[in-house]
Amino acid sequence: MRILLFGADGQVGYHLRQTLPEIGELISCNRHQVDLCNLDLLKQSIRDTSPDFIVNAAAYTAVDHAEDDIGLAYKINADAVELMALEAKKLNSWLIHYSTDYVFDGKTNTPNLESSRPNPINVYGWTKLQGENAVIASDCKHLIFRTSWVYSERKSNFAKTILKLATEKDELKIVSDQIGVPTSAEFIAQITADCLAQINKQSQAPNNYSGLYHLSPTGRISWYDFACFLVEEAQKLNFSLTLKKSKIFPISSSEYPTLARRPHFSLLNNTKIQETFDLKIPDWKHHAQKLVSELKQKEIA
Ligand SMILES: NC(=O)c1ccc[n+]([C@@H]2O[C@H](COP(=O)([O-])OP(=O)(O)OC[C@H]3O[C@@H](n4cnc5c(N)ncnc54)[C@H](OP(=O)(O)O)[C@@H]3O)[C@@H](O)[C@H]2O)c1
Repeated sequence: MRILLFGADGQVGYHLRQTLPEIGELISCNRHQVDLCNLDLLKQSIRDTSPDFIVNAAAYTAVDHAEDDIGLAYKINADAVELMALEAKKLNSWLIHYSTDYVFDGKTNTPNLESSRPNPINVYGWTKLQGENAVIASDCKHLIFRTSWVYSERKSNFAKTILKLATEKDELKIVSDQIGVPTSAEFIAQITADCLAQINKQSQAPNNYSGLYHLSPTGRISWYDFACFLVEEAQKLNFSLTLKKSKIFPISSSEYPTLARRPHFSLLNNTKIQETFDLKIPDWKHHAQKLVSELKQKEIA
């Protein structure tokens, strides 16, 4: 079993480098090895490797920058993904690809199903939806995992930013009218490996697994409540904080204008992935607590 991974240095990519070797031989590529803007090189790397699974954790993820950088975001999130899908189809390989809750407009107040109608309200979400559509149109065997609010102990993300600001500031204002669920990159990588292991084991009709899945933990929260949770956990672990939880104040999205609009409600219903792959998905707090204690260990080390 050979697996070709793109985006190996990203939040999810880094954790896939830990979990995918359990499944087979892993060939990892970061941006310097294969730049997804170079479609000839991308095609060549797939043909040279002839993988059973192509796993694409690379993406243009700068949501606000994408508003002014449509061409590049489209190249990485749609054109490169389409090429991977067409190559996967030719090789009869699987394409494992990640997408986002930002394909939804957030106008509902019930968790989005895989069958819910996407309607992105920012460029990033729109380019990611074009990537999804290209995978489906190619008819390759695929798993598209839509996930949300990704964090890890590596790279920059909301959780790490809040914990850093909590050691520098004595007051914070955080948006409270966007509801979703924070998802650990480690959790995404573990579930990805579990799903690939099941496909691998299945001698009959593994193609039945092919499709779109919502991959996020259970539960829901606003950015404001997530920030309060992180600071509370950090307090419990005796981080040296300058910020008290009582000094985090909720504000509306309109009081915190950003280049890209964000959906107000982007929760993903995760029933399909749990039922299809017989998984028990934990509450988001499980991995969020783990992150805080890992960051504490790093502080001590
Ligand atoms: N982050 C989130 O909150 C979030 C939410 C929902 C869905 N997702 C989706 O989840 C997946 C993984 O996200 P993540 O959080 O792990 O993202 P990330 O940490 O930003 O990692 C993305 C990786 O893509 C690489 N990349 C960017 N442009 C490239 C190019 N031209 N050629 C090759 N590689 C390139 C980056 O390289 P460098 O390391 O060199 O920058 C980075 O390693 C993505 O599909 C993303 O859309 C993310």
